[in-house]
Amino acid sequence: MEKFFIKGGNKLYGKAVVQTSKNATLPILSACILTKNKVVINKIPNITDIDNMLEILKSLNVKCTRIGSTVTLNPKNAKNIKVDCKLARTMRSSVFLLGSMLGRFKTAFLSLPGGCKIGARPIDIHIDALKKLNVSVEEVGDYLYFNATRAKANRVKLRLASVGATENIIEFASTLKGKTTILNPAREPEIVDLCNFLNLMGAKIYGAGTKKITIYGVDSLYGAIYTPMGDRIVAGTLMIATAMCGGDVTLENAVPYQNENIIKKLVKMGCQIDIKSDIIHIVRERPLVSIGKIVTGFYPEFPTDLQSMMTVLSCTLMQPTYIRERVFENRFLIVDELKKMGANISKMDENCIVVRAGELKGCEVCARDLRGGASLILAGLVAEGTTIVTGVQFIERGYEQIEQVLSSLNADIKKYEQKSSDNNLNS
Ligand code: UD1
Repeated sequence: MEKFFIKGGNKLYGKAVVQTSKNATLPILSACILTKNKVVINKIPNITDIDNMLEILKSLNVKCTRIGSTVTLNPKNAKNIKVDCKLARTMRSSVFLLGSMLGRFKTAFLSLPGGCKIGARPIDIHIDALKKLNVSVEEVGDYLYFNATRAKANRVKLRLASVGATENIIEFASTLKGKTTILNPAREPEIVDLCNFLNLMGAKIYGAGTKKITIYGVDSLYGAIYTPMGDRIVAGTLMIATAMCGGDVTLENAVPYQNENIIKKLVKMGCQIDIKSDIIHIVRERPLVSIGKIVTGFYPEFPTDLQSMMTVLSCTLMQPTYIRERVFENRFLIVDELKKMGANISKMDENCIVVRAGELKGCEVCARDLRGGASLILAGLVAEGTTIVTGVQFIERGYEQIEQVLSSLNADIKKYEQKSSDNNLNS
């Protein structure tokens, strides 16, 4: 079983290049089956969610060749078969295949999607939106069967600005005859990146990143060569790590405007942050002060994916911080693990915690979701003594060699495989 071993107390210094965005690359890969031509995606992050998405695409007979960090996909002979339940359940993003499969094949089977256990994560918004486009849905055994043979472009208003539902409708409507309008779409930068990619393939999508997206369906899409955006959540994680540990770190491929919300908060707390094109330079010299409360929400509000990192940062502050989670109902999974380390956290209600000053001490803690897992590593960076983080597989769904990135910034972190038969630590 692999574990991270972290000795706390080091300041962070140096430069890191932020990996490509997981949440942008996944829907972009799924959108490839909308064309019959070759697609080349550069700078693919080396993480298990991407491996799983490529396995799913291969199972649909898409030829995928990966050389270094470049993947070439040839979807010419893609086949419409049921995505293997086991594969689909490995990650939530399998649901993003729905829009592109319907666009390409007009019918699709979907098993209930997987991903982190951070809440109920239903797919009613995806289904309601597709029904508005005259797609029929019925349950067939363990699967949902979607039929778009009588689909018609329409106006679709989303109950909530769901990222996945917005991406599915955009993908499906790209080749659906007529004008489809999405009202209250998600405005996340990953949506804009997906639309840039589809427009490069010949789609006609307008308004991505705003409160109304209009799609004029085209007959077919061309192939393309594309490099997805940098990962704003990884950039945010590294900024928060620097804010906690102190030091001087430069992040490249970081697209600062996408992280405006977190940058403003860290500056208010006492960090110095300079931004220049795709570079973020963060310096933390003096002790930080709490900004009182952090409330998550849909973009451009504070991202839920950085909430648990801010919870850990709040443990290091003298003043209390109230943290309210408004996107996922189960995003306080790390609270009990942090309490094991000595954190002073109390629940106000189901969606709100208050974090007070406490001394974090190293011990063995277990990651149970991707972002919570990364936050436990951050806790280890400032804790006294050694912290051991298990549940590495959750963290590696989205973070590319996090131990190497942090080591290169002067953190003391190693990943070992601990064999159950002996107590030796083999790297
Ligand atoms: C995506 C991101 C995830 C991020 C989240 C919110 C990917 C691969 N994942 O997830 O990292 O945390 O956006 O920024 O891009 N909901 C419903 N019904 C639905 C769909 C969603 O009630 O049909 C609810 C969810 O339970 C949640 C909220 O809407 O409470 C937001 O979910 P959504 O935006 O769809 O998140 P994902 O696309 O799953």
